[in-house]
Parts: sequence; structure tokens; C-alpha cells
Amino acid sequence: MYKCKFSKRINGEITVPGDKSITHRGIMLGSLAEGKTELKGFLNGADCMSTLSCFEKMGIEHKISGDIITVEGKGLHGLSSPSVTLDTGNSGTTTRLISGILSGQSFSSRLSGDASLNSRPMKRVIEPLSLMGANIVSENGNGCAPLLINPADLKPIHYNSPVASAQVKSAILLAGLYAEGETSVTEPVLSRDHTERMVNGFGGKVVSDNNTATITGLTKLYGQSITIPGDISSAAYFIAAGLLADNGELLINNVNINKTRAGILEVVRMMGGNVSFENKRTVSGEEVSDLLISPSSLKGVTVGKDLMPSLIDEIPVIAVMAAFAEGETVIKDASELRVKESDRIKTITKNLLTLGADIMETEDGMIIRGGKELHGGTIESFDDHRIAMAFSVAGLNIKETVEIDRPDCVNISYPDFYKTLEGLIR
Ligand code: S3P
Repeated sequence: MYKCKFSKRINGEITVPGDKSITHRGIMLGSLAEGKTELKGFLNGADCMSTLSCFEKMGIEHKISGDIITVEGKGLHGLSSPSVTLDTGNSGTTTRLISGILSGQSFSSRLSGDASLNSRPMKRVIEPLSLMGANIVSENGNGCAPLLINPADLKPIHYNSPVASAQVKSAILLAGLYAEGETSVTEPVLSRDHTERMVNGFGGKVVSDNNTATITGLTKLYGQSITIPGDISSAAYFIAAGLLADNGELLINNVNINKTRAGILEVVRMMGGNVSFENKRTVSGEEVSDLLISPSSLKGVTVGKDLMPSLIDEIPVIAVMAAFAEGETVIKDASELRVKESDRIKTITKNLLTLGADIMETEDGMIIRGGKELHGGTIESFDDHRIAMAFSVAGLNIKETVEIDRPDCVNISYPDFYKTLEGLIR
């Protein structure tokens, strides 16, 4: 149980850990590239370690020294057959992206994760990969992991994805590396584009045109030195904490503000939050800025389809901000939240109700009437890192005791989260 601290003063300067999505992709593309890849500022969280250990089981060596991982790439066809099941832990990104890579290998593999992961939908990658000729099946026939992947010759496809999901898009593009010709994916709304950027950075070829990304297969990738920016999904908790405070000022260094990721900054602007951008720059092909956050009076907003993919992981903390904001916040077109590490529509609603908020669950989101005085209570994390972190921010703003049950799930994406948060309460 974690006992939340109460503080209306948030002050100081922090640097959040490296971006999770970029770390996963750096390990994967580094493994498939020729030669050494250096990832500086990688995320040392459990999800990324799952990716690293899967590639280790396929013969990829790595070295960790301080905040740098060095991966010894073996080329597109250099992976070796794993002698055990590849354990993808709690990580949807590992499972879905690696499925694309494994579909193009000349060996069989089996993927499985924890109970949460093994109940998340994998049909969304099984279907398009099968259209490419992949031999991939759900072991229990329920469209979930464990997945069994057998060797196959892949052919290029054009896929119209029914969901705006970077994991689906990336699985297809990575499989496209193993298909001769052009493989393309069109999404209903553009999702995070780190795979596209990074494949090009490694010497591959992806062309993006609005919501369509097209990869040319069988192009060699070459090892790179990459500096990974801070994860905006991790910065989001501190942005919220700084805005909800009554005094203090918070500088968050080195945050990735790639616009396919930075929807929370747009929402904060609409809510009336004070965030200023300092020292904007481009680092290893990604836009980065330091963010200066000061206390603000927030008002309710409507968040829907167009912004959703760019802030999908930030909905828990946006819901918390909405509970303290004046007026109504409507979150809609967010049914993807039901298939995250927990059913986040349910887990957010349940926990905000515990604290006395006025919130109503809808089929594809929630409606929050903010400004009600909240009280203490015990939050259930449901072992979902983003629920635990979002509700520690709620706890900062509630005088009575707020406790978080099973708080250690923050290790998935932010092992030092509580320590960093407590360092700002002075
Ligand atoms: C991710 C994509 C998103 C996001 C997840 C990371 C990625 O999932 O929620 O945390 O790195 O590609 P979906 O693609 O399923 O929306």
C-alpha cells in the first residue's frame, strides 16, 4: 500500500525517464540492424526489459552501462531460434510488434505474457499478419496470447486498419521488412509514428502520407546511436501535479513533444493550463522541449476521436485533472481504453467514485463533472501502472488519506515515480 502525500506546493526541476515506445523500437530495430546500436537514455522499466530479454533469447547480445544500452545487431536474418517461450510480461507493445518480426523468421516461436497481457486482443495483429501470409495462431483459440508463430513467406499488403493503433501499424510495418515490395497501412486517425521515423533513421524506407505509412521490404538496416527523449506519458503526471498545485513552479526537462504523442498538451491548453515550452529542439529525429508548468485554474473540456490516439495513455491523468477542474469534461471515442493494461474506463470510474467524484461511465468514455470536494479512500491500481500514477496525483490534492493498493506496478514504466514525486513536495 502506498500512502499518498498531500501537497499543494509542487516545485523543482526533474527529468523523466526515456520514452517507452522509442526504447522498445530501438531495441527491436537495433537487433535487426547490421552492427552496434547505442540507445542513450533508454527506459529501464519492466516492459522494455521484456523486449530486451525476448531478443536475448534469440541470440542478441546487449550491454547496459549507466543509461546506455548497446545492442549487437545481427541483421534482418540474424535472429536465432529461441529454445523457450518468449515471455512478453505485461507488455502489449512487445507482444504485438515482435509478432510482426517473428512472422518473417525461418523458425517457430511461442509468445506469452502475464494474465493481463494474455487477456488482451491479439486478433488485431493476427488478422493483418495472416493476410501477409504469416502462420500465427492463438493457442487457446480466443484471439489472445499465447501465440504460436511458424515460418512463412510474407507478401506485401495494403491494410486499412479499423483501429488507430501504433502497435497494429508497427506490427505490419515490421513484418513488411520481410516482404518483397511495398507494405502499407492506413489508419482512421494517425497514431504515434516512432516506427516510421526510426526505420528511416536506421537506413530503411518508410514514406508517410497523411494516415498511410508505406514501407519497402528487404532493405538493410544499419546500427545507430540514438538519444532517447523523456516520455511525455511519464511527464503527464507531473504536468498535472504542477497545474493542480497552488504554488511552486516545475521544470520538466527533455520531453518528447512529437505531435502524434503530445495530445495532452493540447488538452491542457484547452483546459486553461499554464505550460510554456523552453528550448525546443530535435533530437535523434524526435521533437523535444523542456516544459515549464505553473499552477492554473482548470476548466472542463471535450476530448474525442481526433486527439485520442495522441493521448490515449494519458486519459487516466486527464480524468484526474477533470475531477478538480470547473465544469464538465466529456471523454468519448475512447473504447480502446477497455483493452489496455486494465479496462481503464472502469478502473478510472471506480477509483474516482471512491474519492467522491461525480463521474459517469459511458460505453466509449466517461463524463466527469469537476469541482466537487473529494475525500480520502483506497485506490485499487488493478496492477495498472498508469492508474497508480494518475491517482497519486489525485492524492496530492486531497487532505484526507488516499492510499494506493498494489502500487509497485509503476515499475512497468517508471520505477522511480514515487521518489521523484516526493522530491517535488517541499
Ligand atoms: C504504444 C501504442 C499504444 C499505447 C501503448 C504504446 C506503442 O497502444 O497505448 O502504451 O508503443 O506503439 P495501441 O497501439 O494499442 O493504441
